[in-house]
Order: sequence, then structure tokens, then C-alpha cells
Amino acid sequence: MGSNEHPDLFDTVNTPPIELTAGARVLPGFATQAVGNLLLLEIEEIFRQSPTRQMVTPGGRKMSVGMSNCGHFGWVSDSSGYRYSPIDPISGLPWPAMPKHWLELAQEAAAVGGYDDFIPDACLINRYAVGARMGLHQDRDERNLNAPIVSISLGLEATFLFGGLKRSDRYRRIRLRHGDVVVWGGPSRLAFHGVAPLPAGSHPLTGPYRYNLTFREAGVRQPEDGE
Ligand code: SIN
Ligand code: FE2
Repeated sequence: MGSNEHPDLFDTVNTPPIELTAGARVLPGFATQAVGNLLLLEIEEIFRQSPTRQMVTPGGRKMSVGMSNCGHFGWVSDSSGYRYSPIDPISGLPWPAMPKHWLELAQEAAAVGGYDDFIPDACLINRYAVGARMGLHQDRDERNLNAPIVSISLGLEATFLFGGLKRSDRYRRIRLRHGDVVVWGGPSRLAFHGVAPLPAGSHPLTGPYRYNLTFREAGVRQPEDGE
């Protein structure tokens, strides 16, 4: 896999998975080889069509993270609630397509995390600037809760919070670096998780930002959606 040019990356991808809880694993550096500048260029391309926006929660609070989506469905929040939509409410168009190699990367990560046959139809793209955070929450708007969540972190390091099935359960704090992947499903599918406020920093590939891609099986495809 071209590891000669990147002996340091090769070491990272050989780091074994870390068990967080039953059904949840961190795959350190799993996406590092794939990322280079490529995922980041594709993110920029997606943002040209469906720009990041700070969504408003049903309770009326503006989220600190900038969000967009690609794939058949995108996660949206507004005063009427959280849901998946096939249309970007800003562009009025379908969300940009999910690049094929993103899908393959997510499927490989899911398999290493213990989940075969993952067919994500939604990818939420989060952009964190300094101070942006995500409070403890469950990912529960997806139609298929038997499918895992696959989360890829890029750019600045962040502290990921991963707890149990109750909001009040103790949570672990895990440093997520560029290229780290977290997979959670099965008994941990509805685990509460979040992200601590992003410290200021500068990353050689992403500057002042952290990006996170989360892949989900969100909905049931309509025949007219095509492939
Ligand atoms: C999320 O829960 O949607 C994002 C998690 C992360 O940014 O690591
Ligand atoms: Fe989440």
C-alpha cells in the first residue's frame, strides 16, 4: 500500500483496535492512508454545493458545529425537530453524492469494527472551529439501528466523550487524531457520546479546523433515488 513513502503512517495503521465498550472500537489511524489531501478536497467540493451551516435545535439553540451532508440522506435540525432529509434545505437540491471511496472506507472500517454488510446512505460532515463542541447525545434518528455508526476524524485533535445508554452514565474521554476512526453499534449503538470544546490549534492539512464524518444507515431508499 505504498507504505515505503510513508513508513510513519504504516506504523499508525498497524496500531490494534481499542475496545471502548461492548460493540464499540477505536481504530487508530485507520483512515490515515486514505486521507492525504483527498478527503479534504472532496469535503471542500461538497461544501461548494451544500455549505456548512449552524443548525438550530428544536429548543431554539444554534449549534456551534458547522454541518453539511452527503449521500442519499442528510441529517437536519430545525424548530420542528431532528430528521433525515433527501433534500438540502439551503440549496433546495439533493445532497451531494457520497464519493465511492468514502463508502468503501466506511465499509472496511465497519468490518474491522465487527460489522459486516454496512451500507451507509448518509454521511454527516461536521466542521469544528475553536470552541465548537457537541453535547452528549444519542444517534437515534436513523431507520436502521442494527447498523453501526462509523466516525472518521480529520485535522485537529479533539476529545471524544463516550458513555453508556443513560445520559448520566460515566463516560470515557478519548483523544481522536487525524485519521482515527470510531465504530459503534450492537449493544453500544445508542451510547451517549459527544465532543469537548475544540482547543485552538493549527493542523498542517486543515488549519484551524477539525472535521468529522459520520456514516449512517439513515433511511429506506426510494426506487427513484437511483443507484
Ligand atoms: C457526532 O456525534 O455526530 C460527531 C462526533 C464527532 O465529531 O466526533
Ligand atoms: Fe452523534
